[in-house]
Amino acid sequence: QQQRRNYHENIVEHYENPRNVGSLDKNSDDVGTGLVGAPACGDVMKLQIKVDENGNIQESKFKTFGCGSAIASSSVVTEWVKGKHVDEVLAIKNTDIAAHLKLPPVKLHCSMLAEDAIRAAVSDWKAKKEGKVNAAA
Ligand code: FES
Ligand code: FES
Repeated sequence: QQQRRNYHENIVEHYENPRNVGSLDKNSDDVGTGLVGAPACGDVMKLQIKVDENGNIQESKFKTFGCGSAIASSSVVTEWVKGKHVDEVLAIKNTDIAAHLKLPPVKLHCSMLAEDAIRAAVSDWKAKKEGKVNAAA
């Protein structure tokens, strides 16, 4: 209880009821996968997006082996990216996530992990798409 009172309700909510936990098929052409680790603590986050031919994100899933703040950060990001264009989500900053969840300063690197993961997922999707274009040429 003591610990819990220090955390904002958004973070507790996302930690207890994380949205979009799971996996998408990483071998599928329309899926981008970002797998990133936090050097500070060794936690790992996998974040995936399913993207339509226009670059709009239709679905997003995550699996996070890490602290509550990292889990809450991934949960928020998967909610935010849905329905957005891949170029649009690159503008999501870890500071936006941290502000939304009211993360304490020592937990900022946890939201950084979510920002890195979404960027990595978009890059992976773009690389696959370009590979396909080149193969067709
Ligand atoms: Fe969940 Fe804001 S409280 S995205
Ligand atoms: Fe490492 Fe949160 S303590 S991601």
